Amino acid sequence: MLKGKKILIGITGSIAAYKIPLLIRLLKKEGAEVKIVMTPCAKDFVTPLTLSTLSQQPVLIEPYDKTDGSWNSHVDWGRWADVFIMAPVSANTLAKMASGIADNLLTTTYLAAKCTVFFAPAMDLDMFHHPTTQKNIDTLLSYGNHLIAPQEGELASGLCGAGRMEEPEEILRIVTDFFLKRNLLSGKKVLISAGPTYELIDPVRFIGNFSSGKMGYALAEDAAARGAQVALVSGPVGLKPLHPGISLISVTSAEQMAEACFSEFKSSDITIMAAAVADYTVTDPAPVKIKKSGDKLTIELSKTTDILATLGKQKRAGQFLAGFALETDNEKSNALIKLKNKNLDMIVLNSLNDQGAGFGHDTNKVTIITSDGAEAEVPLKSKKDVATVILDVISVRL
Ligand code: CTP
Repeated sequence: MLKGKKILIGITGSIAAYKIPLLIRLLKKEGAEVKIVMTPCAKDFVTPLTLSTLSQQPVLIEPYDKTDGSWNSHVDWGRWADVFIMAPVSANTLAKMASGIADNLLTTTYLAAKCTVFFAPAMDLDMFHHPTTQKNIDTLLSYGNHLIAPQEGELASGLCGAGRMEEPEEILRIVTDFFLKRNLLSGKKVLISAGPTYELIDPVRFIGNFSSGKMGYALAEDAAARGAQVALVSGPVGLKPLHPGISLISVTSAEQMAEACFSEFKSSDITIMAAAVADYTVTDPAPVKIKKSGDKLTIELSKTTDILATLGKQKRAGQFLAGFALETDNEKSNALIKLKNKNLDMIVLNSLNDQGAGFGHDTNKVTIITSDGAEAEVPLKSKKDVATVILDVISVRL
């Protein structure tokens, strides 16, 4: 899968460095050329001899050889690579990368690199959660670097929590995925809506729903990984997009979501409405907090605009429009009615009757139905994997 791909690995002084020999073997087995640059401190955790034996390349540590003055060019290494995987990245190197400090061969190579950079932090949970580290990660993401997020688990300190470097097998999967997908949707604009909408009753209360936004965010990440420019219109959720190709447009109400979608739709090639949009909104939200009085309270609701149906009417030739259908009964026939009535190219059917599917879960089980009559049952998978299947179906059709 990685034949001919040039991969540079940057190792810093973290105990997770012991996982890198395995990563090198996995990458080499897939046919990649692998070179290693490491900080002097990283030598205390994994030996250069192990790394050079496995990579079949000399390992670079110092900017120049003190005995004969020969130079190890950080510029050449950064330009040689198709992908630079910084793993593990300590809190210290993370801070240096975020602020442009170039005080060793690894950090100078990072600063000079022209290729895609992945970084896999590894540190103790309190260091990881420290606001400085979180701010540094955000800064690196804003510069277009790709985060390989650390996992929760047992840490070298004996504590348990986030900070454990991702496993080599998963890093291999992420890198392979990157090469497989990167150009599939390049030059395409993708609009994705995600999450719930909140309809205000008064300044402190709202009508909402249980949508977590996970499905929509997974779709946005996958589309961006395929090289698309993604506009993610999101209701209030506790998530943030990671890929630099995603522009986030945060909204609260169905009306705001409609406005954002209508404006982005004109220039979009693919639109996927994954948001759980309120069908009704409060007719007259109270300007001040409603005080308790009487045994009953009646709130009048008015129908919102059906965003997807409106987009279906505006759709031009060449634009691909997909919606979701969340059903509890007569699932398939209801989904088919929505596919036809809203003039869609695809509908993704979610049944709340399926265990592990729908709101809040990390997994989903869906049926993808396209307007050409094709139908694909996707068994229970992570929302990330379901997003990949959905975008595979769309990519093929485009
Ligand atoms: N949708 C939308 N605007 C709305 C309501 C729904 O764009 N005001 C979109 C959703 O994002 C989803 C699709 O329409 O992609 C279907 O949503 P769903 O709630 O399943 O269906 P509705 O059309 O609202 O019909 P019903 O609630 O009666 O099943």
